[in-house]
Amino acid sequence: MKIKEFGVEVWMNEYENHCIHNLAETCVESLTLEQLLEIAGKKETILDELLPIKLAYGAIEGSDRLRDQVSTLYSKQSRENVLISHGAIGANALVHSTLVSPGDRVISVLPTYQQHYSIPESFGADVQILKLREENAFLPDLNELKDLANKNTSLIAINNPNNPTGSLMDEQFLEEIVDIARACDAYLLSDEVYRGIDQDGNGFTTSVADLYEKGISTGSMSKSFSLAGLRLGWIVGPADFLQEVSIHRDYTTISVGVIDDYLSAIALENRDAILARSRQMTRANLAMLDEWVSKEPLISYIKPKSATVALLKYDLDISSRDFCVKLLESKGVMLTPGSVMDMEGYLRIGFANNTQSMKIGLEKLSEFLAEL
Ligand SMILES: Cc1ncc(COP(=O)(O)O)c(C=O)c1O
Repeated sequence: MKIKEFGVEVWMNEYENHCIHNLAETCVESLTLEQLLEIAGKKETILDELLPIKLAYGAIEGSDRLRDQVSTLYSKQSRENVLISHGAIGANALVHSTLVSPGDRVISVLPTYQQHYSIPESFGADVQILKLREENAFLPDLNELKDLANKNTSLIAINNPNNPTGSLMDEQFLEEIVDIARACDAYLLSDEVYRGIDQDGNGFTTSVADLYEKGISTGSMSKSFSLAGLRLGWIVGPADFLQEVSIHRDYTTISVGVIDDYLSAIALENRDAILARSRQMTRANLAMLDEWVSKEPLISYIKPKSATVALLKYDLDISSRDFCVKLLESKGVMLTPGSVMDMEGYLRIGFANNTQSMKIGLEKLSEFLAEL
């Protein structure tokens, strides 16, 4: 089976560990193990808890304690609606392999995480792109979605909050998408890996898993919870659908690491403190970015409503890749070129990394723009 290169991941693998100022990061600055244990008040006692754990496969679908915790991130879900996976990347891959057969229509928004259109394409699906445009604040055009949705549609894939634009669909908007999905009896997958860090309110927008009987949400510890190193994610959806997923999962996953499962449960039990830190950082850093954009004549953007990333539009005659490579070589600053996410003419910036390094990175970026 042939599949396209995963543009963003290729870019990250090439440069992420060689830059000085990382403005390409999409996780809220990752916590150390020590920070996590301090937040949980377990720094002195954790070994007593970990030493007796047998390093066996553990609970195959994820521990009850963890699945219960994940279910409480939603309003209408319980343990049987949660299946633990290897990151959200594993969760998304499992959803696509469970639901998509050759010839099926799959509708995916773009831009988004490339899995959602390149995996179904590799399966021989009839993939239709629902383009998110700047003039619609990077929200889907619902009439276009209606036109694309037909009786062969097995899956509609959205990403809320959206990577790379930071756009956010509220409950009312999601309800309209649910109506379209229901009319053609399609599953609706919402990649919600950035949920919990909206710029307003308590940070949580309604999940499609709570809105639709065929709604599926994927999420993980990586972004809003700052714990990508645990490589732990989940699928939340109808129990009968999860049984279908389990058939595929047995071939690829068995279980996740028992220590990762254990530490994720601790993190979710202390979610208030972790998410308060994440919201504080994303809100303060976006305010800084917003001020910077307002002073840069060559840059414009649609201000994100959530997530950790924004798409910057630049008014220069240079490809996004050349821009980013030159920027890295001359200033050590890393952005992500729009070209690796099928959005030429834009640059993706992450605004949730360490505030001080973001400040320096933006100063260097200003120098670079002035030199250009
Ligand atoms: C929208 C989206 N989904 C999924 C993932 C994968 O995340 P994880 O680290 O949980 O596998 C990412 C990572 O960048 C992402 O941006």
